[in-house]
Amino acid sequence: MKKLSFLVTAGPTREFIDPFRFISNPSSGKMGYEIAYAAYEKGFEVLLISGPVNMAVADKNIKVIPVVSAVQMRDAVLQNIHRFDVLIMAAAVSDYRPHQYNENKIKKSDASITIILDKNPDILNEVNKSGYSGIKVGFAAETENLTDYALDKLHRKKLNLIVANDISKQGAGFESETNAVSIFSDTHNRVDIPLAPKREIAVFLIDYIVEYIRRNKKVV
Ligand code: PMT
Repeated sequence: MKKLSFLVTAGPTREFIDPFRFISNPSSGKMGYEIAYAAYEKGFEVLLISGPVNMAVADKNIKVIPVVSAVQMRDAVLQNIHRFDVLIMAAAVSDYRPHQYNENKIKKSDASITIILDKNPDILNEVNKSGYSGIKVGFAAETENLTDYALDKLHRKKLNLIVANDISKQGAGFESETNAVSIFSDTHNRVDIPLAPKREIAVFLIDYIVEYIRRNKKVV
């Protein structure tokens, strides 16, 4: 099998309302950064597209494209994806952005304010529309019905694999050093990884993807 290449996304996106306020989520980037490092350590080519995080890559030779918003992340993914065998979307992309951006700080007043939100592009759907034929791995952050929601995303987003984390569990999901995940494949396999450091989960995931490709002869 040829040497594989991985495009990994990590971290949150920020959707600015005015120069100082934004809509975002608590993603630290840790899960995605560990995945990028695990692939790099195995000798694969890696590009990391990262939302704003307080984290550096574990090896400075890993190429990083920093982005802020979901639209910027979408553009960076679409510009680069066709050079990569595998896309891993570990980023927590904001589903909505403010309809209007205020150039100046919104001043406080006694009245309530209403912020209208527009839907952000779904990056995985746009990758599908672009005709990308590589392996697509999504993540699902769920607080209930983990299996049903993850399988729904696997099919709806036309993924090969989805990594589901129950973010209501102590020590799993956003910001923690550890995670607990279940990986579902479009070939009806499931594997559960109990609570473990994100680095270990990342190494397991890269091995699992390589084995998936080998078994299903998806990339030659
Ligand atoms: O960064 P950490 O603090 O280490 O936390 C890790 C994590 C919890 C962020 C990570 O493990 C995780 O679950 N990432 C995905 C979170 C998420 O946004 O899931 P989702 O169910 O909303 O999205 C499903 C998939 O579609 C994801 O692969 C997501 O990247 C992708 N997506 C989502 C929205 C969007 N507009 N476009 C997308 O492509």
